[in-house]
Amino acid sequence: MTAARIDEFVEAVGSAFADGSLVRLKLGGYHGTEPDLRSVEARKIVVKGEDRLSFTFHYKTRDIIKNHELGEAAAQLRAWLADAFRSAQLAATTFDLTFERNGDKIRLKRTEAVRDAVAASHDRAKVRPVAAGAKPWQAGLGLTDEQGNVRKDAQDKFRQINRMVEIFAPLIQALPDNPRIVDMGAGKGYLDFAIADWLQAQGRSAEIVGVELRPQLVSDGNRLAQSSGLIGLSFAPGSILDYDATGADAVIALHACDTATDDAIYKGILAGARLIAVAPCCHKQVRREMERGTAADTLSPLLRHGIFRERQAEMLTDTLRALLLERHGYKTRVFEFVSDAHTPKNNLIVAEKDTRAGKQADAQIADLKAMFGIGEHYLERLLAGTEANTALS
Ligand SMILES: C[S@@+](CC[C@H](N)C(=O)[O-])C[C@H]1O[C@@H](n2cnc3c(N)ncnc32)[C@H](O)[C@@H]1O
Repeated sequence: MTAARIDEFVEAVGSAFADGSLVRLKLGGYHGTEPDLRSVEARKIVVKGEDRLSFTFHYKTRDIIKNHELGEAAAQLRAWLADAFRSAQLAATTFDLTFERNGDKIRLKRTEAVRDAVAASHDRAKVRPVAAGAKPWQAGLGLTDEQGNVRKDAQDKFRQINRMVEIFAPLIQALPDNPRIVDMGAGKGYLDFAIADWLQAQGRSAEIVGVELRPQLVSDGNRLAQSSGLIGLSFAPGSILDYDATGADAVIALHACDTATDDAIYKGILAGARLIAVAPCCHKQVRREMERGTAADTLSPLLRHGIFRERQAEMLTDTLRALLLERHGYKTRVFEFVSDAHTPKNNLIVAEKDTRAGKQADAQIADLKAMFGIGEHYLERLLAGTEANTALS
């Protein structure tokens, strides 16, 4: 009798799972041996195209999810209902079925209900803003193969540019219509192609210019932009400092070498760009200054080991960059844009124009320089004399 009642409940779960009417299954009254397990809930999901019952085990301080195909799930349910769980509720689109066990006595109660069916959620891969596909720019940059799949050796790059587009999407949305975006030290222009593709997919237009020293990369980039039909994307030859960024709404630079990042920030500030975003690369200039100068005695343990000196140089360089941006009227954030498992150069400085920012920056810059024995920060020298153009003038 007990087994028959359990079977009846499990079969009802199986039918609701099969015909798509299962909304939720909940198991309670746990008195088994697992410490801290409170209850279990289940719903239908699709894993790699196969239907599964997904169980969420609610523990006191955490949840654990396990997915089972229906046969396994039914066997598991039978065992649980016979022993570890005293109650269960099946919520379907047209009925509720409750199960209660007290010793050997089992009570099943069915009541009518009216609910919307829930679509089985998919465990499909995270939707990326820039999808891999048969796009000439992706193949042209060596990101994808002939079938439009991301190449094995381009996975990190593809993840990185998607992450960048995810970060930039809301920042670009906040810019005026048809924004002018300048990417300094564009290299092959991965980021520019990705942003142009994403904007085009949104039905938005923009002028995107990748500035690059190496002429071959510039002509390759321009050819690929044209053949890919990415309107508004172009590449300009020359150095960042020589480029006229007047009218730029956003100035960005991804891994522009050493002080090229400072050149990009400088041009952004000079242009009064609303958005300046840089992922710095190496930090040699401040490192050399640190070696030349004399840091405060209290810092000597921190600077004794080469690897920590390197990291201090990096933190100091980017802290000073952030402060200088604040000093020139930008609200600044620094964060990791991608895990350091993909690249160690994973910090992004995002600065948005905000005239309230930076009132205390001057004193902080002076204190830090004195503490680390820094004569000058290259960006500070560039910016000297630009006060007339900036918010704190
Ligand atoms: C490490 S690569 C990064 C390229 C690209 N931003 C990316 O992340 O894929 C740096 C690029 O910046 C360019 N570059 C370095 N200094 C520059 C400068 N002062 N003006 C223009 N381009 C510069 C280099 O030629 C190189 O292509």
